[in-house]
Formats: sequence, C-alpha cells, structure tokens
Amino acid sequence: MINKIMQDAINDQINKELYSSYLYLSMAAYFEGRNLSGFAHWMRMQEAEEREHAMKLYDFVLERGGKVLLKAIDAPKTEWTSTLEVAEEVAAHEAKVTASIYALYETALKEKDYPAQIMLQWFISEQVEEEKNAAEIVANLKLIEKGGTAVFALDHQLGKRGK
Ligand code: FEO
Repeated sequence: MINKIMQDAINDQINKELYSSYLYLSMAAYFEGRNLSGFAHWMRMQEAEEREHAMKLYDFVLERGGKVLLKAIDAPKTEWTSTLEVAEEVAAHEAKVTASIYALYETALKEKDYPAQIMLQWFISEQVEEEKNAAEIVANLKLIEKGGTAVFALDHQLGKRGK
C-alpha cells in the first residue's frame, strides 16, 4: 500500500499534469485564433498527452490502495505576443515539469517506494523527449523568424503529427 507522503506527492504531480494540459489547451486556442491550425493541432496533441500523464499517476495511486485527491487547477495564461514566445514558454514549462518529476523520484527513493520508482522511470524518459521536442520547435522558429513562408511550412509540418 502506498504511504501518505508518496500519495500526497503523487496527487500534487497529478495537479501539475492537469495544469500542463490546461495550459496547452489555452495555447491551442491562441493558435486557432491566429489561424495557425498546425500549431493548434500540435498543442492539442500535447494537451491530450498531459491528461494521459495525469491518468497514469491517478491509476497508480488507486492500484496501490491510495486516495486520489484532486485539487483546483490554476487558470492558465490566455495571451502571448508571438509563436516564439509560446514555444519558449512550453520549453520552460517542460523543464519545470522535469524538475518536479525528479523531486518526486527523490521522494520515492527516500520513502523506499520501489513500485513508484519503477513507474516514475517512464516519466523520466518521457521528459527527455518532451524537452527535446520543445527545444527543436524553439530552434526552428528562431531560425526562420524573419520568413513568413517558412513559418507556414513549419506549421504545415506540425499539422501532420500522428498520435
Ligand atoms: Fe507531463 Fe509534458 O510533461
């Protein structure tokens, strides 16, 4: 059975994943409003992934005989000044999530919660990919910042992403 310290820490992480989902949904709406459907599609896919992350943790708490205690989700930002600003914010946000996953893993080590350590290794690998994807978009946008046609091409490429 999961102990209270791990249960509380994982419940906090569920809230953070749901906030990420909310933030990315807000970013998707921002892009829709600017007719950038490729970027909006990308953010919707990211949003769905964040809900999956929350549900992985949710199921884990329940499987271990713990209680899922959902908290209020903060309202996300709704306005940005540019596509690059959004991408930079995603990259910074993912770095924060990585730090949070590492802290959760440290708690699992301290609490000698071996099942949680194994479960969290998936999240540690996932964060490597999440940070890499965000960094690539930032780098691409910086590269083509001055070319409207190139931004359109990137938008098209992002729009082709499958699950
Ligand atoms: Fe759930 Fe993007 O990390």
